[in-house]
Amino acid sequence: MKASLRLPKNGRTIVVPQPSSRRFYGHGIPGLDPSKLGGKLVVIEGADGSGRSTQITRLVEWLEGCGHATVQVGLKRSTLVSEELEQAKRGNILSRTTLSLFYATDFADQIENVIIPSLRAGFIVIADRYIYTLMARDMARGADPGWLRNLYGMALVPDIVFYLNVPAEELVQRNFAKDYALDYWESGMDLGLSHDMFDSFIRYQAMIVDMFKKMQKTYGFTIVDASRSSDEINLELQKKIEAVMRGK
Ligand SMILES: Nc1ncnc2c1ncn2[C@@H]1O[C@H](COP(=O)(O)OP(=O)(O)OP(=O)(O)O)[C@@H](O)[C@H]1O
Ligand SMILES: [Mg+2]
Repeated sequence: MKASLRLPKNGRTIVVPQPSSRRFYGHGIPGLDPSKLGGKLVVIEGADGSGRSTQITRLVEWLEGCGHATVQVGLKRSTLVSEELEQAKRGNILSRTTLSLFYATDFADQIENVIIPSLRAGFIVIADRYIYTLMARDMARGADPGWLRNLYGMALVPDIVFYLNVPAEELVQRNFAKDYALDYWESGMDLGLSHDMFDSFIRYQAMIVDMFKKMQKTYGFTIVDASRSSDEINLELQKKIEAVMRGK
């Protein structure tokens, strides 16, 4: 397949995604051969307010402007259980393991019904968070890493995983500027780290960063300094995604 071609309309160069070998982290989805999937799977990880949505909106605009079909996925977006999951979070009534399995169900549904069909059709799939956030949250709540690795063995290995890194103090400011509040779960209030939500947010985010550091060796995240301007960050993401599409 030709690696790139120039669009006559706007003169932009389209990088034609080159096929890459694809695999699951573990047991995968029964009956599905991942090696036959085209497209690209790009994951954007990062804390609440790290700028994931801002970057994804810009990436979609850029990719579609270059002629690529894109699709977005994220946590709690499955048609199967997202509503029930939202209710469960509001009530704080489920045990940690049940909530964890609820999230895993939501994720598996999207893998099977959105991610895989979209890759098969050659789409660029952009995931707003992936299994790593789910595992980090569960590990911070004492879940066994081996059990989690097995649970998320149904996940496809992405082509690239960006981790948007922003200091916790700046995250607090961004979240306040956006919503005038911090989120109960994203502040780890269920863990009883502190009665003070700011304090809890800073401590909990530090725990999550620690978990990501632990996972770095196994999963190889591309760490992006996301305290820079939105333009600078986006340019770096574009360059790296282009390299992925060229099969580098
Ligand atoms: N590079 C940046 N520098 C400063 N502020 C930024 C930057 N990127 C995004 N913001 C601002 O930070 C806030 C959070 O950004 P955004 O909603 O994109 O983050 P998010 O990671 O998607 O958050 P959430 O976890 O709530 O979905 C917004 O008000 C946004 O305008
Ligand atoms: Mg967002």
